[in-house]
Amino acid sequence: MTDLSPKALDQLEAEALTMVSTTADAAALEAARVALLGKQGRISALLGQMGGLSIEDRKTVGPRLNGIRDLVTGAIADRKAALDSAALDARLAAEKVDLTLPAPPRRKGSVHPTMQAMDEMVAIFAEMGFSVAEGPDIEDDFHNFTALNFPPRHPAREMHDTFFFKPGPYGTPKLLRTHTSPVQVRTMRRTNDKPAASWIACGREPPIRIVVPGRTYRMDSDATHTPMFHQIEGLVIDKAIHMGHLKWTLETFVARYFETDEVTARFRPHHFPFTEPSAEMDIGCDRSGGELKIGQGSDWLEILGCGMVHPNVLKNCGIDPDVYQGFAFGLGVDRLAMLKYGIPDLRDMFASDVRWLAHYGFSAFQAPNPASGLS
Ligand code: PHE
Repeated sequence: MTDLSPKALDQLEAEALTMVSTTADAAALEAARVALLGKQGRISALLGQMGGLSIEDRKTVGPRLNGIRDLVTGAIADRKAALDSAALDARLAAEKVDLTLPAPPRRKGSVHPTMQAMDEMVAIFAEMGFSVAEGPDIEDDFHNFTALNFPPRHPAREMHDTFFFKPGPYGTPKLLRTHTSPVQVRTMRRTNDKPAASWIACGREPPIRIVVPGRTYRMDSDATHTPMFHQIEGLVIDKAIHMGHLKWTLETFVARYFETDEVTARFRPHHFPFTEPSAEMDIGCDRSGGELKIGQGSDWLEILGCGMVHPNVLKNCGIDPDVYQGFAFGLGVDRLAMLKYGIPDLRDMFASDVRWLAHYGFSAFQAPNPASGLS
């Protein structure tokens, strides 16, 4: 028979409490609990022997054993709380974040040179008092051609290598705009049509002074042409506008854009159905030494088309050509970005190669601002 003398029980109590209080972690505490109070545990085993005791002994040993069990149960709960809070303290210490450390480097995107150039151009024109208008990429024949004085079946329509959509049941097929000039029409025409979205140009009264940045599309692909490219259109309509205003605006723009007063420009007669007279603007450059330099040399580089808005276009837009006239221009943004940033091949601009973008791209913090420098 096990020793159930008061002395033995005192010893049991002391041993059990030491066992519990010296456990190092939750697993050891659980092992101690099982060893003492589990089904086969030391204390449980003694409680199981109670039936074999005399009534006298049971009266003293019973309460004593129950007292030990309650004491040990309480000690286990206390130890568990102490271990839990120690574990939490340890975790908090280990996972402490030092906010004074520099942040780990992150992969970041960059602004495409075309978009940077576009923002620069818009910033320059905004400084001259132009506002920005936009229009849809999917156009109809009326806005892209007819209103712009392209006669029906005129070869100029084919000249643009237009992407047409499949013809629908009504009207002429939709197309991808071949230039940003349809936004001239959308800006001048005062119709009751609600614009499909708030950013789409809607008719306004002259004076009009807008620039139109956007994507344009032509079925064309080689070293200097891509099927999608970017243009900025300009339109000025007022009562006494002449070619002099056009020349000053474009020459000032080019000098600001290339950040040099040395730029020379010439205007060559040209033809566009929507302007009369029409011209192409060339800027002086130097191609010797395999490198293109703007503002020096005796070569010429074509950069944009322009002219005085054709009276038929004004009429088509409900503006009286005897009262108002104005000028328009359209320039290729991608090509001007290449010139400014020394990018050799147009196709690379649209290859989505992240290494190319990391090299030629701009930080989003380099927002063009004419006051603090353009780029
Ligand atoms: N829309 C013409 C083009 O894409 C450019 C242009 C615009 C010419 C405005 C004259 C006036 O080629």
